[in-house]
Amino acid sequence: MDLEPLHFLKATTPMPVVLVSTLYGDVKNIAPYAWHMPISMDPPLIGVAIRNIRDTFKNIEDTGEFVICVPGKDLVHHIKETAKPYPRDVSEFEKAGLTPQKSKVVSAFGVKECITNIECKLEWMKEAGDHHVVVGRVVNSNVSKELADLGLDRNHPDAVIHIGGGRNAFAVIGDIIK
Ligand SMILES: Cc1cc2nc3c(=O)[nH]c(=O)nc-3n(C[C@H](O)[C@H](O)[C@H](O)COP(=O)(O)O)c2cc1C
Repeated sequence: MDLEPLHFLKATTPMPVVLVSTLYGDVKNIAPYAWHMPISMDPPLIGVAIRNIRDTFKNIEDTGEFVICVPGKDLVHHIKETAKPYPRDVSEFEKAGLTPQKSKVVSAFGVKECITNIECKLEWMKEAGDHHVVVGRVVNSNVSKELADLGLDRNHPDAVIHIGGGRNAFAVIGDIIK
């Protein structure tokens, strides 16, 4: 079965969800993003595809900083809450009941309940179709004690995967094949 080019996303694999945390003045903004990927190890670069209508995009453009926070399955309902289109001056941290965690290097906050928090300074952003590719240089990463105890195994059993389309359904990693 062939798919129309505009439906190519259905031919890709489901992607893990991260929360991107930014600041708008004192307002702590956070929202879920599934289109993200590591880009370079040295220098350490990570990218996210973000529509330029998002508060997250505008805040990164204004401040040059963001934190990529990796949620576990216990945060699925928080993820859904942070996805709601609140105005820019409303903090989704408060709406979703997430605890801001002070970062070491950047001003934007991490999330205490998340598995990891990756602090980034904006390296560059470039328009790509209906999204912008936003690339951050990692300036510090913080991992939960639980993940550290697992030997920093990235196949974290609780990491949340976004299953396709507008269904807003989520899954966790399945069998690990060695
Ligand atoms: C699971 C999930 C993944 C999402 N991934 C992206 C994404 O990769 N890029 C994007 O621009 N929007 C994505 N969104 C939509 C934004 O999270 C949503 O529009 C949010 O309200 C933006 O918040 P903000 O305006 O505070 O930045 C996603 C939403 C959900 C629920």
